[in-house]
Amino acid sequence: MLECEACGEQYEPEQNIQLCECGEPLRLEYFHGDIKEGKRDVWSRYGEFFPFEVDEKLSLGEGNTPLLKAPSISKKLDVNLYLKNETVNPTWSFKDRGTILSLQRAVGLRIKKFGTVSTGNMATSVSAYGARNGMTSIVLVPANISDKKIEQISTYGPVLIKVTGDYGDLYYESLEVGKDEIYFTNSNSPFRIEGYKTIVFEICEEFIPDYVIIPMSSGGLFRGLTKGFKELKKSGIIDEIPTLISAQAEGCSPICEAYQSGEEEIERWSEPDTVASAISNPFPPGGNDVLRKLKEHVGMCERVSDKAIINAQNEIAQEGIFCQPSSAVGIAALKNLRRKNKIEDGVDVVSIITGAGLKGEMVSDDEQAISRCDLEDLKTCLTRFF
Ligand SMILES: Cc1ncc(COP(=O)(O)O)c(C=O)c1O
Ligand SMILES: [Zn+2]
Repeated sequence: MLECEACGEQYEPEQNIQLCECGEPLRLEYFHGDIKEGKRDVWSRYGEFFPFEVDEKLSLGEGNTPLLKAPSISKKLDVNLYLKNETVNPTWSFKDRGTILSLQRAVGLRIKKFGTVSTGNMATSVSAYGARNGMTSIVLVPANISDKKIEQISTYGPVLIKVTGDYGDLYYESLEVGKDEIYFTNSNSPFRIEGYKTIVFEICEEFIPDYVIIPMSSGGLFRGLTKGFKELKKSGIIDEIPTLISAQAEGCSPICEAYQSGEEEIERWSEPDTVASAISNPFPPGGNDVLRKLKEHVGMCERVSDKAIINAQNEIAQEGIFCQPSSAVGIAALKNLRRKNKIEDGVDVVSIITGAGLKGEMVSDDEQAISRCDLEDLKTCLTRFF
């Protein structure tokens, strides 16, 4: 059954519908179950938490990502920090976990065209899964997308369209034009967010943290992780849900803005302006639902500057992971919250490192850190460093 997060309206699962008539996102009902130990594949291990069997032929091997200790940042901030490294997914971001379930949904609805609206990561993911499974992928991207992202997406051969206009509105327009011809799996699609639950299941198989930090744009990842935690609680696998912290860039933070001003609903952000372009949805379709969930679980919402994002990206690189600026917002937020004493000493924190730096989002371009020399001067050049 599909249920509206806001008004509770229910829709038959056979219906190809992603948004409630009231405009708010839908989700599947809450499930409970057990984790089947000894199975490596995530869809078998957590199979009881899904109302369908995931067709392994559709899989590119998503999930089972490392939960890596971050000793230097932990020491600096006096917490036990772990990085959930989603950069090692098949198309280098967490989106793959949701794309496979969306693809299965499209196949189940007998729709042959698989689409998405994306600033880059979902576009790459949908194109790859579509290509492997013989679907025509339709990818709608903002007109100002970087060439590097275009290169990655077009490798898989989708129908790729740069759309000039409001990115927030494109979400709704795609669902309208797609109807029964194209299955658009956008950021808050109910089957997409189901896939994100596996991140929570993997973390809790290792340990239950005190805090989980989630980079946020449209709200889909936050909604998926919250559902995962609720289902684990319902199943008696965890007693308490960790405090969830959503992190946004100062240059586009409609959800934090509304949360911090005590509003019930988000307002459209007029002009997104941040290096973290992958998390710059000006009108997040899951925004109101995230607000409800932050209130229900007394979560936190933290905004960070571009400078802090780039610094955090460099610090994460020192732990051995090259992530995109949009993923580094989590550590930048953690630093702010420690400075403001909103997070205690010595607690266990997991930050979701959502996507790889190779994605071509703007990265720190520190010319100072690059040396140049002629071949014959190499030895002399090297002596400057030792
Ligand atoms: C790298 C990265 N991190 C975080 C997010 C946030 O996900 P959501 O839009 O589901 O909130 C995105 C979304 O595109 C992303 O690309
Ligand atoms: Zn509704």
